Amino acid sequence: MDHFLYRNGILHAEDVPLSDIAASVGTPFYVYSTATLERHFKLFEEALDGIDHTICFAMKSLSNQAVLTFLGKLGAGMDVVSGGEYARAIAAGVPGERIVFSGVGKTRQEMATALKGGIRQFNIESEPEMEALSEVATSLGVEAPVTVRVNPDVDAKTHEKISTGKKGDKFGIPISRASEAYARAAALPGIKVVGIDVHIGSQLTQLEPFEAAYLKVADLTHQLRSEGHEISRLDLGGGLGIPYERSNSAPPLPIEYGALIKRCVGDLGCEVEIEPGRLISGNAGLLVSSVIYVKDGDGTDFLIIDAAMNDLARPAMYGAHHDIVPVVEPAPGAEQRAFDIVGPICESGDTFAKARNMPAVGAGDLIAFRSAGAYGAVMASEYNSRPLIPEVLVKGDQFDVIRARPTFDEMIARDKVPEWI
Ligand code: LLP
Repeated sequence: MDHFLYRNGILHAEDVPLSDIAASVGTPFYVYSTATLERHFKLFEEALDGIDHTICFAMKSLSNQAVLTFLGKLGAGMDVVSGGEYARAIAAGVPGERIVFSGVGKTRQEMATALKGGIRQFNIESEPEMEALSEVATSLGVEAPVTVRVNPDVDAKTHEKISTGKKGDKFGIPISRASEAYARAAALPGIKVVGIDVHIGSQLTQLEPFEAAYLKVADLTHQLRSEGHEISRLDLGGGLGIPYERSNSAPPLPIEYGALIKRCVGDLGCEVEIEPGRLISGNAGLLVSSVIYVKDGDGTDFLIIDAAMNDLARPAMYGAHHDIVPVVEPAPGAEQRAFDIVGPICESGDTFAKARNMPAVGAGDLIAFRSAGAYGAVMASEYNSRPLIPEVLVKGDQFDVIRARPTFDEMIARDKVPEWI
């Protein structure tokens, strides 16, 4: 569910007509709804009600400062994966004790920054990383709280590029080696083992893979405790999927996911952490674009729009589906026509949808990509020298630009031409 509905024949973001935002900021742009962000965050709060928990928003999905500040004020922690994300979380006022640091390639510099600025835990993904953290923490005279991310060898049954918990994936330490890894961690100075971490992938549309992974984590908790480790926290990762195709997908609900968590690990006396990204931010955002031309091809008709693969990379990168709707509500039963919906970039991969049925739209009309809040703006680039597009945040009838579109001059001024040329 989201807060982008047709009212008086125009698609709105909460109480704001998208046509008003387009008139004010130009297209293309991203727009986010605070009401949807809040609703989705609270769905997880409700789902985990009754067990000690912390929800760390996977800010890789959407990391604008306004969004982080908003979620931080609701009590969200953050899951960060780089020094830049850590800096953003801190700048948004999220306290270090609510920030977990994930990722396979944390540098010593990133570790030191987080140790100095405050961190809830590092999710460690390899033995060399453990040793590096031990050195950094020791040199700073502090103790680093850690979980070890285990790779449970579970098939997440999602797109291969976003599956992370199978043997052979670069993530985590094989669960079969967990015992040795924990013994090693416990022996290292400057390291304090606090729990176990697992994350098996993103856009999961079934609960079974989560269940398989979490049951393995439950077993491992007993085993590690019997080996003398203090396991007081379980970080269960993110990954719950969203219905990208409203007409034919219904992934499990947060409440069902929460019940599963309670069933698998609820009696272990551990604090549970989760790292959802997409489910909080995905349906909280739209990408709004204008049609530039309607082009009749040879057997294929094209809608050429002013957004491109540099603005929303998911269709080109993963073949991902996004529902695309006109901003002006089509009349009931309006005739539809199949279009390839494409951007202006000079490669055929710049295609958002093939043979997509759309009601009659013409040059200048606005269209909206649904479910674009997660992994949209954050994955954008300036390919073809197309400046990053603005982001707009809506609350009720108010909206503000939360990241402005750079001018061409600003874009060009970031480069430097050496005098010796
Ligand atoms: N925790 C860790 C350690 C992760 O690697 C991820 C996502 C998450 C949490 C959040 O997963 P979520 O709840 O958002 O599914 N760019 C891709 C998605 C990449 C996901 C990477 N890791 C896409 O556009 O589909």
